[in-house]
Amino acid sequence: MSRITVLGTGYLGATHAACMAELGHEVLGVDVDPSKLARLEAGEVPFYEPGLEEVLQRNLASGRLRFSSSYEEAAKFADIHFLGVGTPQKKGEFAADMRYVDSVIESLAPLLTEPAVIFGKSTVPVGTAERLGARAREIAPAGDGVEVAWNPEFLREGFAVKDTLHPDRLVLGVDRDRPGRAEALAREVYAQLLDEGIPFVRTDLATAELVKASANAFLATKISFINAISEVCEASGADVTVLADAIGHDERIGRRFLNAGIGFGGGCLPKDIRAFMARAGELGADQALTFLREVDNINMRRRTRMVELAREACGSLLGARVAILGAAFKPDSDDVRDSPALNVAGQIQLQGATVNVYDPKAMANSKALFPTLTYSANALEACAGADVVLVLTEWAEFRKLLPADLEGVVRTKSLVDGRNCLRPEDWREAGWTYRGLGRP
Ligand code: UDX
Repeated sequence: MSRITVLGTGYLGATHAACMAELGHEVLGVDVDPSKLARLEAGEVPFYEPGLEEVLQRNLASGRLRFSSSYEEAAKFADIHFLGVGTPQKKGEFAADMRYVDSVIESLAPLLTEPAVIFGKSTVPVGTAERLGARAREIAPAGDGVEVAWNPEFLREGFAVKDTLHPDRLVLGVDRDRPGRAEALAREVYAQLLDEGIPFVRTDLATAELVKASANAFLATKISFINAISEVCEASGADVTVLADAIGHDERIGRRFLNAGIGFGGGCLPKDIRAFMARAGELGADQALTFLREVDNINMRRRTRMVELAREACGSLLGARVAILGAAFKPDSDDVRDSPALNVAGQIQLQGATVNVYDPKAMANSKALFPTLTYSANALEACAGADVVLVLTEWAEFRKLLPADLEGVVRTKSLVDGRNCLRPEDWREAGWTYRGLGRP
């Protein structure tokens, strides 16, 4: 078993730390935010992620998992360090903000007196790993004994534990000019996963960084593709959900990630495709990724379309009562970063409607981001007296809603399904006006 540190205990880092301890390693999670550390030490996950709290508590109890704010302690504790801090979008630009990644290297490397390997997990612009490696060797007392390798993370929120312990693949980028111990150590850390037969792809640093950027770009493109087709369906009276089922039978296309609706959001896809475009521009390959600008445009247009559908349903948004079911960027998450649902709620309110928002898990985060919206304690309360009900996140609770549940609660029996997650027949038969996106 190995001793490892995980630098950064956000979504990625906290999950990685807990899951590595679950594999039997001795893990030290390090962060500069004392409140985050205090919650983790108390066995509390600072975000909603099914199953993670159990893994965290089990490994705290066993003593295999600890947390600290000290880089001195981190440098002494282990010679394997995973870097898992955030790379948000820079304010006013498409590029990624590298300050947190850089600061990990600036804090850790000067303390490395013995050989060590730093495995980067954050999503970074291609070329970062090479740059960080050079910088670490320059400022570390151990000098050339310090290696930087790249081991991108593909976890989805809502499936973080499963995606970490049973990923589709492991990717490891190693410095071509100085291969060192990185691959051998990674194989030790992930031995259990490799025994399970999970594919291990060894690459150079740049390829590993690009694998992650292109995987997210592909997923975003797939969603925007079906949303673009959904616009054509709307214009021609076709049904995009049936169309997606039909093309999805072709294994080359596949049905997953072909759900048309109000589009993608969250802390990854939107900022990652923008950072990817920005980086390609810096490298002189900007033409290659101009299509991602269109992917972004199609995605943002779905939000505007949703607002239009709400307006059509009410006649005018001015003074209308709009019930909004769902605020998280996707179900089984309390994450509202760049959430299409909250964005739509905000736009509708700015146009003069009273909006009532309910989400099963994302209420606190929504209130912090959008304090001016009205929040309800449950779905029925949000729908009370509504002129239209908008379903904007496909939580199981909303998918199970029946027309009878809302009968007598709403003022007008009108529903717009922003995720195409309800059965139109059920609602129409009960006398409702049902609208979906890309459906007749
Ligand atoms: C994503 C990638 O899937 C993951 O591999 C990467 O590591 C981080 O970014 P995540 O942000 O958790 O993960 O969400 P994901 O499940 O990919 O969904 C992203 C967005 O796309 C959500 O807003 C979701 O509602 C939307 N989406 C997804 C659709 O609109 N239609 C679909 O068919 C699928």
